[in-house]
Amino acid sequence: MSKPGHVIVLGNEKGGTGKSTVAMHVIVGLMDRGAKVGSIDLDARQATLSRYVDNRRLHAGKHGLALELPVHEAVLPTGQDQGEDARQKDVTRLETLIADLRRTCDVVVIDTPGSDHYLSRIGHSHADTLLTPLNDSLVDLDVLAKVDPETMRIRSPSHYAEMVWDIKKRKALRDGGSMQWIVSRNRLSHLDARNKRDMDRLLNELAKRVGFRLVAGLGERVVYRELFLKGLTLLDLRQEGTGIALSMSHVAARQELRSLIDAILPGDPPP
Ligand SMILES: Nc1ncnc2c1ncn2[C@@H]1O[C@H](COP(=O)(O)OP(=O)(O)OP(=O)(O)O)[C@@H](O)[C@H]1O
Ligand SMILES: [Mg+2]
Repeated sequence: MSKPGHVIVLGNEKGGTGKSTVAMHVIVGLMDRGAKVGSIDLDARQATLSRYVDNRRLHAGKHGLALELPVHEAVLPTGQDQGEDARQKDVTRLETLIADLRRTCDVVVIDTPGSDHYLSRIGHSHADTLLTPLNDSLVDLDVLAKVDPETMRIRSPSHYAEMVWDIKKRKALRDGGSMQWIVSRNRLSHLDARNKRDMDRLLNELAKRVGFRLVAGLGERVVYRELFLKGLTLLDLRQEGTGIALSMSHVAARQELRSLIDAILPGDPPP
């Protein structure tokens, strides 16, 4: 493999925005397109992505399904409360893992926790693409921007947007590297048109101000919760024997997912 693998980080300093769900769908979506994918769980205490991958392995074994798996590793913050030296060991372990996976995989997908954390920052700093899923709510927007309640205009970027800005700057200084930041709205509903319009306007304004690309995301669908225990994604449902019947809603959801993956794919498609 000549080119180092492209690193996609799922990040948002807000819990429950769909990072792990989107991470698993992106991983399977890229494998489906022929890429060799490595994955890292930096939220190894909660371990949603690691459990998702385990569930997939178990379900495939039990039902004789040919489900592809990523090369997956979880990195626990073992030095969290042990002082700087112990934390530095974790950092070195993570950086070695990222370098190894970049050498052996086409794409490396990193899932991060919904809060600030030393390993999460290191993960972010290696992103070629940062993908931030965002629930369609002003509460979730708060980590990206402060909104004036009177005028409903953006007052200033918030802490997560500032952290990303800082990482972009340091990455450029360190090795001239760049990072594309993509925000995708998640759990979009057909209701609440007023909120949707407000979010639309505010996110478009913020995109210009702090430099991210806004892409269409995934709709609100119950199927995402059903898939987890079997380790499946929408893309697996066309296979026989998954135990979930493919519906029109799933077909529409799959199209949303394909559009999302098209939007985040690095310039050169995987081989
Ligand atoms: N598009 C969607 N439609 C319906 N439910 C969804 C969708 N995306 C995610 N969910 C559900 O929302 C919950 C949170 O999702 P997920 O665990 O992926 O978020 P997260 O950002 O990784 O959370 P955390 O910050 O705690 O790691 C889960 O129950 C998941 O099944
Ligand atoms: Mg998660």
